[in-house]
Amino acid sequence: MVTRQQAQVTGPAYYDNGRHKQSIGDEIMSETSKLTTTTGKSSELPMISGTHGPDVADVRRLYKDAGIFTYDPGYATTASCKSSITFIDGEKGILLYRGYPIEQLAEHSTYLEVCYLLMYGELPTPEQYDDFTDIIKNHTMVHENIRDFINGFRYDAHPMAMLLGTVGALSSFYHDSIDINDPKHREISAQRLIAKMPTIASYCYNHSRGQPFMYPDNSLSYVENFTRLMFAVPAEEYQPNQVAVKALELILILHADHEQNASTSTVRMAGSSGANPFASIATGVASLWGPAHGGANEAVMNMLDAIHDSGETIEKTIDRAKDKNDPFRLMGFGHRVYKNFDPRAKIIQKMCHEILDDLGGDQPLFNLAMELEEKTLADDYFKERQLYPNVDFYSGIILRALGIPMNMFTVMFAMARTVGWISHWNEMHEDPEFRIGRPRQVYTGAATRDYPAKS
Ligand code: SDX
Repeated sequence: MVTRQQAQVTGPAYYDNGRHKQSIGDEIMSETSKLTTTTGKSSELPMISGTHGPDVADVRRLYKDAGIFTYDPGYATTASCKSSITFIDGEKGILLYRGYPIEQLAEHSTYLEVCYLLMYGELPTPEQYDDFTDIIKNHTMVHENIRDFINGFRYDAHPMAMLLGTVGALSSFYHDSIDINDPKHREISAQRLIAKMPTIASYCYNHSRGQPFMYPDNSLSYVENFTRLMFAVPAEEYQPNQVAVKALELILILHADHEQNASTSTVRMAGSSGANPFASIATGVASLWGPAHGGANEAVMNMLDAIHDSGETIEKTIDRAKDKNDPFRLMGFGHRVYKNFDPRAKIIQKMCHEILDDLGGDQPLFNLAMELEEKTLADDYFKERQLYPNVDFYSGIILRALGIPMNMFTVMFAMARTVGWISHWNEMHEDPEFRIGRPRQVYTGAATRDYPAKS
């Protein structure tokens, strides 16, 4: 039984990174909810209200008061932390980065401006933006031994395997700046990661093609530099394709952060033990690789290719996705939080049309995707379960039209999400309520028993 009563109110918690005062949210502890167990024990659970979103019952004293845990596999209704970085309203299809709607940032901002916003909490002034851009440009190169490290992988290694190993190995190059308790070390590590991810991603790509690794060209913008690292060859001049640059800028902005998704929660959990920033971000790369998460964009294209090549009807594909005896799921559909539509999918679908008009590309695959979307949205199974296209459904079509191979799609996602991961990692270290993560469990194993006596 839960009842709500009046309780004390606390003010906002602030911390200052020297540029902008950041608030981890104006939390108002305005009420309590009383929980009484079937054994008669009870606990007053303070209710916390954030800036947006549902109230939260603070259950930290529940075990002490009532001797019980909470059970929430997959943490579908558990707030693991307080955060002021990103907000999602799954019912309304809302995504805010530091309060700014994703639609407005997608239309007006750049990826580096979004990086600044996510890291420091406010949009930069023109001077701050120029300073930040210069800092990032000065860190785009990697130690020459990183080339040797990546060349040590098999020629057919998956780029995500190479990225995972290389990001973790960065901690072996920066002994001078991985003191997690030093805000300056945390800041320079974030800048290094944002700056170096495009360089490392392009090395992973060119290693798998047997092509030479290009050096960054700091006269170019962040995204122009990435396209040059990926597609230029030393033998020729390279001019970035501005249509591709615009599309990639959008994809990076849309994938930059997304609250406590699986990979971000993994980074927070790893970082909560005091792991250095590079090791912590490497755990995010590992988690993102799964096909239920960031690996979905590669899985969507494999699914569309398989449907196209097999000649299977859309109706047959949808029936397979609905069949409980078939493990097949429609890749690019469904989301733990969005139970209406993923606002990023709508933005990316529009960009898909533009890219295919400008650059050509898999129009038949895009038409197949549109038909699949149309038919699932009309199907009761998907409507009842509120399954809509997510950000991964269309991104693969754009990336392929830009000439990026499928096994690099999740690397692109990781490159974009690095700023989200490191911003959450930093926010955790600046949170006065920061503790090492250590969930409990429901033990369902054998009851206590004695070791059998030796006969
Ligand atoms: C990302 O968390 C984030 O924010 C992630 C992300 C980010 O930016 O970080 O948004 C990026 O990871 C997007 C999601 C990409 N993954 C995919 O597209 C893979 C396909 N989607 C599913 O695996 C699934 O929808 C999840 C993993 C995304 C969500 O899983 P949930 O919330 O645990 O949903 P569920 O498994 O409890 O499913 C509820 C019902 C089930 O049916 P019933 O048991 O109720 O009968 O919906 C069904 C599921 O079988 N279902 C699907 C389905 N997704 C869910 N059925 C067919 N096809 C699907 N895609």
